[in-house]
Amino acid sequence: MRTQVAIIGGGPSGLLLSQLLHRKGIDTVVLERKTRDYVLGRIRAGILETGFVNLMREAGVADRMDKECFVHDGTVISHGDTQFTIDFKDLTDTSVVVYGQTEVTRDLYDAREAMDGTVIFNAENVQIHGADSDAPHVTYTTDGDEHRIDCDFVAGCDGFHGVSRQTIPLTVRREYEKLYPFGWLGILSETPPVHDELIYSCSSRGFALCSMRNENLSRYYIQCSLSDSPDDWSDDAFWQELKRRIPSEYADKLVTGPSIEKSIAPLRSFVTEPMRWGRLFLCGDAAHIVPPTGAKGLNTAASDIHYLYNGLIQHYLDGDDTGIDTYSEKALARIWKAERFSWWMTNLLHRFPDQSEFDLKMQAADIAFLRDNRAAQTVLAQNYVGLPY
Ligand code: FAD
Ligand code: DHB
Repeated sequence: MRTQVAIIGGGPSGLLLSQLLHRKGIDTVVLERKTRDYVLGRIRAGILETGFVNLMREAGVADRMDKECFVHDGTVISHGDTQFTIDFKDLTDTSVVVYGQTEVTRDLYDAREAMDGTVIFNAENVQIHGADSDAPHVTYTTDGDEHRIDCDFVAGCDGFHGVSRQTIPLTVRREYEKLYPFGWLGILSETPPVHDELIYSCSSRGFALCSMRNENLSRYYIQCSLSDSPDDWSDDAFWQELKRRIPSEYADKLVTGPSIEKSIAPLRSFVTEPMRWGRLFLCGDAAHIVPPTGAKGLNTAASDIHYLYNGLIQHYLDGDDTGIDTYSEKALARIWKAERFSWWMTNLLHRFPDQSEFDLKMQAADIAFLRDNRAAQTVLAQNYVGLPY
């Protein structure tokens, strides 16, 4: 088989790139290790920046999102008895939208199918060959049969555990990582959200977040120990702990119900440099991870796709390689700022096991400054709604 761009990974990054390129007449093949149902069963991000929304529109897949999403003009931050709103709209004239990653991915799969895009599921043993040559190719197996795709470029959109990053030799690749000493336990429940804005809550018992997917689907998270497993937490224990960590005005009106999904994600910051090696380009979680505080994971994947998509259309339509040659540099410049923001928000709102009394005073002072200072709120809001591409 021959294609112009072989895309490894059928998550949001790979599908969005495939859809955008297809609409410009550039041929792609997407190789996904799992099934479509498996990918759609993963409950992940929920908040989209305007840049992401615009890319979905450019990809022609925004109709359902535009109808069903919720626009959020601000978010609540609480610390003990203090709570205040960061008004994104007032501070930056921009908002974010609530629309789940599952729905984004479903819309992209539907669009790929409608355009007869090639997505190969259950692709095993994917290997990238000759990425540093002029003629790369990718091999994979399905049902024990080996296949080969010759291509001009390879987009590594295969997430943190994929093969693409590992293909770049260690002599070229430099990795930066920070692990946090806690995780997030998340549940999804068919109950109305406790508030019409998100609530990020820093309490003496640890962090909690109240989020949502729609008017009858809520997503809640609590900071948990890395040694916890979801089975250690009954629904009742989760709800009790959440109530202890959020302001009483919300705890009192929280509607609880059975969880329909429960999972734990460890928190990590990670960046690999460079994001390009020869004709291989890394995008999204394949190249970087942020802790979820601040909702940047999926949104940083989208900015990578923006830069790579524009670089590839410049190459194919104008014969100009400037965009692909500056891809790594441009993508990383924005990524590092999102890494900083997610790291800062994680430090601001979580309880750390080794926090001293002094550290707690510093955290409280940081939050009080944010509450009282419009400039500090503007910095948070600018980062939360998304830095420009
Ligand atoms: P992925 O979504 O990981 O997609 C990669 C795809 O590649 C997968 O479908 C995988 O099956 C496939 N693949 C992997 N290896 C191979 C291979 N060898 N060959 C072929 N295919 C392969 N972000 C937020 O903003 N908010 C959140 O609440 C949030 N929660 C998260 C919870 C969890 C448990 C995780 C893991 C991430 C979460 N994120 C969150 C981050 C966000 O979901 C990711 O940033 C986003 O999914 C990145 O998209 P991606 O397409 O780059 O990678
Ligand atoms: C969600 C996840 C986040 O990490 C976040 O900061 C906000 C919302 C969510 O899953 O809804």
